[in-house]
Amino acid sequence: MVCLGNICRSPLAEGILRDKINKQNLDISVDSAGTIGLHAGELPDSRSIQVARNHNIDITDLRSRKFKAADFEAFDLILAMDENNKTDILELAQNNADKQKVELIMNYAYPKENIAVPDPYYGGASGFENVFQMLDIATDELIKKILK
Ligand code: 4NP
Repeated sequence: MVCLGNICRSPLAEGILRDKINKQNLDISVDSAGTIGLHAGELPDSRSIQVARNHNIDITDLRSRKFKAADFEAFDLILAMDENNKTDILELAQNNADKQKVELIMNYAYPKENIAVPDPYYGGASGFENVFQMLDIATDELIKKILK
């Protein structure tokens, strides 16, 4: 799960998916990262922590890190929150196989519509609940697709 800072959207995506993996006893690894290293080592944004907590999900163990080329080796899917994230990720791809791992996460819910998970960083708390709801839908569809 990849966004810009790895403090708002992608930690929520990781937390939501991890919660579903645990509840459904699935053998899926999930991690998150940001395309910039500005917040490396930091906890998720307090508003992400709060919205996750409102849905009984704890993401306070997560720490921001920068996306790296080695992530293409470690993961089968690299899911971007928006087109800018996707472009920045693709710049680190070494080959076609790497490129094919990259997808916008909302395309799992709304195929080919290329809908972005909007960056809530500069907005109010309601933006974070909207991000949560979008990622909740997308991760349901992602799990369905993986299980198929
Ligand atoms: P995120 O949100 O990409 O969802 O983690 C942001 C976090 C930090 C910044 C921008 C967006 N920033 O400019 O520091």
